[in-house]
Amino acid sequence: MKRTLLTLLAALVLLPALADEGMWLPSLISERIDDMRAKGFRLTAEDIYSINKASMKDAVVLFNGGCTGELISPEGLLLTNHHCGYDAIQKHSTVEHDYLTNGFWAMSRAEELPNEKLWVRFLVRMEEVTDRIAAGETAAQIVEKAKAEGTGYKASVEQMYYGNQQFLFVYEQFDDVRLVAAPPSSIGKFGGDTDNWIWPRHTGDFSMFRVYASKDNRPAAYSPQNVPYRPKKHFSISTKGVKEGDFTMIYGFPGNTQEYILSDAVAYIAERSDPAKIAIRTGRLDIITKAQESDPALRIHYAAKHASIANAWKKWQGEALGIDRRGTVAAKFDYETQFGLWSVGRPEYAGVVMGLRAEYDRIMDAYFAYEITRETLSTLPAAYTPEERAEECFARRKSAEQALWRHAFREYGRCPKVYRTPSYAEGMARYKSPEAYADALFEAVWEGSDSVTMQPAVRLREETKRMLDHISWMLGTKSLRNLNSKILNELYTTYIKGLREWDRERAFYPDANLTLRVAYGSVAGYEYADGEYHKPQTTLDGIIAKDNPEIYDYDIPQSLRDLYASKNYGRWGTVIDGRRTVPVCFLATNHTTGGNSGSPVLNARGELVGINFDRTWLSTMSDIAFDPDICRNIAVDIRYVLFVIDRVGGAGYLLDEMKIRR
Ligand code: ARG
Ligand code: ASP
Repeated sequence: MKRTLLTLLAALVLLPALADEGMWLPSLISERIDDMRAKGFRLTAEDIYSINKASMKDAVVLFNGGCTGELISPEGLLLTNHHCGYDAIQKHSTVEHDYLTNGFWAMSRAEELPNEKLWVRFLVRMEEVTDRIAAGETAAQIVEKAKAEGTGYKASVEQMYYGNQQFLFVYEQFDDVRLVAAPPSSIGKFGGDTDNWIWPRHTGDFSMFRVYASKDNRPAAYSPQNVPYRPKKHFSISTKGVKEGDFTMIYGFPGNTQEYILSDAVAYIAERSDPAKIAIRTGRLDIITKAQESDPALRIHYAAKHASIANAWKKWQGEALGIDRRGTVAAKFDYETQFGLWSVGRPEYAGVVMGLRAEYDRIMDAYFAYEITRETLSTLPAAYTPEERAEECFARRKSAEQALWRHAFREYGRCPKVYRTPSYAEGMARYKSPEAYADALFEAVWEGSDSVTMQPAVRLREETKRMLDHISWMLGTKSLRNLNSKILNELYTTYIKGLREWDRERAFYPDANLTLRVAYGSVAGYEYADGEYHKPQTTLDGIIAKDNPEIYDYDIPQSLRDLYASKNYGRWGTVIDGRRTVPVCFLATNHTTGGNSGSPVLNARGELVGINFDRTWLSTMSDIAFDPDICRNIAVDIRYVLFVIDRVGGAGYLLDEMKIRR
């Protein structure tokens, strides 16, 4: 009796952190709304998504095809991450006006900077079209019809549950999006690659843009005559802050998850693919880091390359570790076996799990070869361009570049033999070692030699491309982002259908595919290690503790040091654990992935309390299996964003157009 009571109590206490898995389709959110309200949400399904009235979806945008942004004023002001605005900020930066280093603050509308090829997309509506397609209409016809509905309309039909359902998404795209503000990188990218995917975190990862439209509020190409867009809806901001257990919701565009893949695929990822790719990238990063440390010009030259190699490299480590620690492969295998037993005597499903396993057996090596090739030979340049050659630091790159070629040639040896290009085998026979072979080809490309000397490098390159094509032909699909094949896709269509029939308790949601989703959960810390609990909130005090002028990633602007010294926090100061400070980042249990960067983090009343930008290290396993004990998303606290705009940027005037509630 006592034991049951205790278990019950424990369950109650743990409740807020439980079962926050899922990325839900907004148009079907009414199916989740009771659960959301039970967890604290105060609004309705219609407030989240409606085609009859302005709703939250009208304040969320797909930001340039890889991130999310949100509208925070009636005049088109938009928030996203610093790392999402990075390209735009970098393009406007010069030695005289280095906005990456020093930040950028438009002091009037006239100072807002236009950006070529930067766009945002609002969801006009979404609807299921499975029946229309079954009745004979093609996806292309449906898309064409939808696009004709309005100026700047885009549309696509997306598959859910491996094609069991199809949904039409209609978007309105705006192409005049101007840069309004960005903090210095020492705030916006504070902690750099060292703190990336890590908690405790202190990054002010935000930037601001403004959407412009024609005078009649429609999408229009850039023009000085354009005016700020008047969105149907924008988010109010709450400066009340969050505390552990508070409801949170994330509305955004998650890119890619694989929650239903077989244990075979999970084992492949965690035991074969991730470790190989990590090892290869470790070597590349070592070479690049060494070059960067030897020469300040090279540090800058390789910065973006280093960051992009390191981001996935670190993610894969967390993912593989998480999967291993949580026993994901074994748990999935059990689940599949139980399904297999249920499916006996059900002709539609019997054999589907075995079929999947057999297909994985067929394609595993080919896909591994594809991945290894992409991580090695495909990373080498076809040529060093005249622009590069003109750069002051070009000659000093030679030894690093040569080392990268040698490394790629060596690591390509991991590729199963039958999928290696013939010229590689010939080259190895002739030069006896990958290093000597690499040197010969590198020399020709580095010198920019004549076509005869270049021939072996050109041939290797072309054969490599053709080998990748050959693999995608074998797999029957061009979409090789995941371990995938045409046959797998068909089998998964059946498998998911069967799972949904069999596992009535499970709350199914379609894998992320860069369509708009709602995730909900609560602010929560987690047990990082045995006896080591990580609190869900960080503060300015933590930034000061990390501050170190000697270390590039931790060298904060003097203005922040001064603000800390004077405690001149104004309305942004608040008492946390008995100390007056400024809140910086917080953790929550929302299920997110790449593409959710920049997403609004909303409280129970639908007010903006943060901007999502990352996950903790082991959390990255949530792309494959969401574990409520450890999976946490990381957001920058909106109060830190406002503090930085106001106190560091001196651009407090921007706050006037926002609706800030205390
Ligand atoms: N890990 C985050 C994401 O996947 C942030 C990446 C940008 N930050 C960085 N230090 N590289 O996008
Ligand atoms: N940092 C990721 C992004 O840019 C978010 C994540 O993977 O959690 O979308």
